[in-house]
Amino acid sequence: MAKNSASFTCQNCGAVYNRWQGKCESCGEWNSIAEEGAVATGPGRAGRKGRVFALEPLTGETHDSPRLASGVPELDRVTGGGFVRGSVLLMAGDPGIGKSTLLIQAAAALARAGHRCLYISGEEAVAQVRLRADRLGLTDAAVELASETSVEDIIATASQGKTPRLIIIDSIQTMWTDAVESAPGTVTQVRGAAQALIRFAKRSGAAVILVGHVTKDGQIAGPRVVEHMVDAVLSFEGEGSHQFRILRAVKNRFGPTDEIGVFEMTGSGLREVPNPSELFLSERDLGSPGTVVFAGIEGTRPLLVEIQALVAPTSLGTPRRSVVGWDSSRLSMVLAVLEAHCGVKLGGHDVYLNVAGGLRIQEPAADLAAAAALVSSLAGASLPAEAVYFGEVSLSGAIRPVAQTPARLKEAAKLGFTRAFAPEGRGEAAGDSGLTLSAIGNLTDLVADIAASGRRAKGPRIARQDG
Ligand SMILES: Nc1ncnc2c1ncn2[C@@H]1O[C@H](COP(=O)(O)OP(=O)(O)OP(=O)(O)O)[C@@H](O)[C@H]1O
Ligand SMILES: [Mg+2]
Repeated sequence: MAKNSASFTCQNCGAVYNRWQGKCESCGEWNSIAEEGAVATGPGRAGRKGRVFALEPLTGETHDSPRLASGVPELDRVTGGGFVRGSVLLMAGDPGIGKSTLLIQAAAALARAGHRCLYISGEEAVAQVRLRADRLGLTDAAVELASETSVEDIIATASQGKTPRLIIIDSIQTMWTDAVESAPGTVTQVRGAAQALIRFAKRSGAAVILVGHVTKDGQIAGPRVVEHMVDAVLSFEGEGSHQFRILRAVKNRFGPTDEIGVFEMTGSGLREVPNPSELFLSERDLGSPGTVVFAGIEGTRPLLVEIQALVAPTSLGTPRRSVVGWDSSRLSMVLAVLEAHCGVKLGGHDVYLNVAGGLRIQEPAADLAAAAALVSSLAGASLPAEAVYFGEVSLSGAIRPVAQTPARLKEAAKLGFTRAFAPEGRGEAAGDSGLTLSAIGNLTDLVADIAASGRRAKGPRIARQDG
């Protein structure tokens, strides 16, 4: 039989050691290792013989409507159609981003629809939650509130009476369970509390939402293992200075992970933004060099965003490459392709790239737009204000077709754009969108176009090599 000895666990990443040490070799954090009792592994008794359980076929009785629409359509879009019965969802986000606000709004909407909803706050007193509900105008909703941190008490309370359809635990870091003997907030406690709540959700069929803190480098605090234990992980993001917030699914066992929900934070709570393109383009400074509109897709939803680039001569030995809202390795790739195949010399320039509005773009289709913005800034030539750009740049400089071209074009047409610079399609034409499609086969063509218009405007500024 294994010895039931104490172990030493890193409170930052959850790595386990059998002796104390100053630095965690797994995550590199200092002074994060603490002694913890062995994790309780369930109600097992020594020497107990295994119980025989029934195995079931794939076909069989299922619950008729396993999904529960939250009443907040943007939230439902991200979860894939609502909360699944018996599922556990982790909602992570920076401090003050609006996690509690969003969840109390969802709970109130469900309670108004006649479902039993519990809101358990481990961080705020009941009066504080009430104050927020009052500000949001939700006081008439029959949400059951409590300020509690003991998981056993919470489960006992939730098991009484009608099974709740939704239980919100704000936050999992404040919960503790009797099953383990470490202090609240430690990795073992978070894991133990999450385990107990997940068992309860599966048993009772209630949907449970755990709020999770995020560390300063953007990781969900506590052990990564909680992310594996739950059915879905949602991340609530936003730029401090901007009013809007983006909800994204990082993991989802019951739905897609590429949908985003867009909200705007107002004094009366989070307001849904049904047409985000208008939001991300509303402050557009048309016609200035280095500004381009990218026709993107987030999940199934087309989204137009502005990408801004600034290319300026550097005074440093190593020029700066700074990017906000996009992948820095993709920027390096686009810069390398511009340099190698299009003769655009950027070695002596600082490069800044920014996605306006605090959005984070992940799809490769933004390559062409980013390249256009960079060349436009370098050449001092503004791009046509009525045009959108999209396409993936390959290492050879060729522009590769991207998915969902018609949806991108349709959204652009809807917002008043009349032209699109896009890859030579796979037979997908502009269709009935009414846009003029300028097919771009190679990045060189685009650079030549922009450089020519820059020369017309200001005289030559791009150093071009032949061949
Ligand atoms: N009176 C108000 N008017 C407008 N916005 C407000 C008002 N009060 C709070 N807010 C907004 O609500 C945000 C706080 O929301 P909330 O408490 O839901 O965040 P949270 O993510 O739960 O934070 P924490 O991590 O501290 O639990 C604030 O950052 C602010 O933007
Ligand atoms: Mg909160």
